Amino acid sequence: PKQAEENLRSPICCIMGHVDTGKTKLLDCIRGTNVQEGEAGGITQQIGATYFPAENIRERTKELKADAKLNVPGLLVIDTPGHESFTNLRSRGSGLCDIAILVVDIMHGLEPQTIESLNLLRMRNTEFIVALNKVDRLYAWKAQRNAPIRKTLKQQSKDVQNEFDRRLIEVITQFKEQGLNTELYYKNKDMGETFNIVPTSAISGEGIPDLLLLLIQWSQKTMIEKLTFRNEVQCTVLEVKVIEGHGTTIDVVLVNGVLHEGDQIVVCGLQGPIVTTIRALLTPHPMKELRVKVWFCVLPFCRPFPFSLFFLCSSYVEYL
Ligand code: GTP
Ligand code: MG
Ligand code: NA
Repeated sequence: PKQAEENLRSPICCIMGHVDTGKTKLLDCIRGTNVQEGEAGGITQQIGATYFPAENIRERTKELKADAKLNVPGLLVIDTPGHESFTNLRSRGSGLCDIAILVVDIMHGLEPQTIESLNLLRMRNTEFIVALNKVDRLYAWKAQRNAPIRKTLKQQSKDVQNEFDRRLIEVITQFKEQGLNTELYYKNKDMGETFNIVPTSAISGEGIPDLLLLLIQWSQKTMIEKLTFRNEVQCTVLEVKVIEGHGTTIDVVLVNGVLHEGDQIVVCGLQGPIVTTIRALLTPHPMKELRVKVWFCVLPFCRPFPFSLFFLCSSYVEYL
């Protein structure tokens, strides 16, 4: 129904997988940023979040389908660490999302934290799309910047195509061993039962249009009810931090509802509930990572706050 479609919130998508499969790099590629190279040891150690407005997604997917209908306002992507010591953060990320991307390195296949992530997603019945990343590492791959995957695969040599097929089949077999049917998304005739695989490269951007379009279409097709905006506040804390000039801040994802400066809120503390007032709402700019604080727009203006909230919104924030 038209009315419902007009009142959708952004789907929340969690990106998960084994360490160094390219989760952060994929997001860098979509954002046009360089967050990954700034990470200590190239390892993600926190949950990150980025808001992608629908217009950016439309732009990025136009080669695939110029008339792609986007009913959602955008996509909120949660980045998680793949290192084995961060099971708790993967669990929090997967608990928060509507849909997920499970990243697999095409050169490595399924790895221990791929399987751990897979099980976290299955536990909650969360739909996910497999990004079979690093296709550009196939020997003699000819990169075509940001091209849809079918277009670029067609233009590879026979040897490269054979190598791709061989590795793809290996990954499909490994998923099968985990009790899961998977298939290349454009060959998948049984969406719902069989999980989609989208080959990608975070370096050349190949397959990114396919991944974004599939995420949006899949969410819009199967989650209209879940994504219909509700007024009741639903908000999850990602991090608590003391930031100079702001005092104690919390990074949160607002899933539903509206928050204002001055609202009284209750958050769970280690010593019991904390009752406090929202002094400021700060949101990262669209297409910028929540973890990179320099990108924040401070609203209404910057002054020392004993307590402030950093916000990333899947729904609306109203500024007074
Ligand atoms: P953690 O967050 O630490 O689990 O890692 P990650 O999954 O976010 O991987 P990350 O983005 O840190 O990438 C790991 C390494 O792989 C980096 O050196 C990237 O440059 C490289 N990389 C990521 N994606 C690709 C890709 O598509 N192709 C190639 N050739 N290299 C990639
Ligand atoms: Mg990372
Ligand atoms: Na990494």
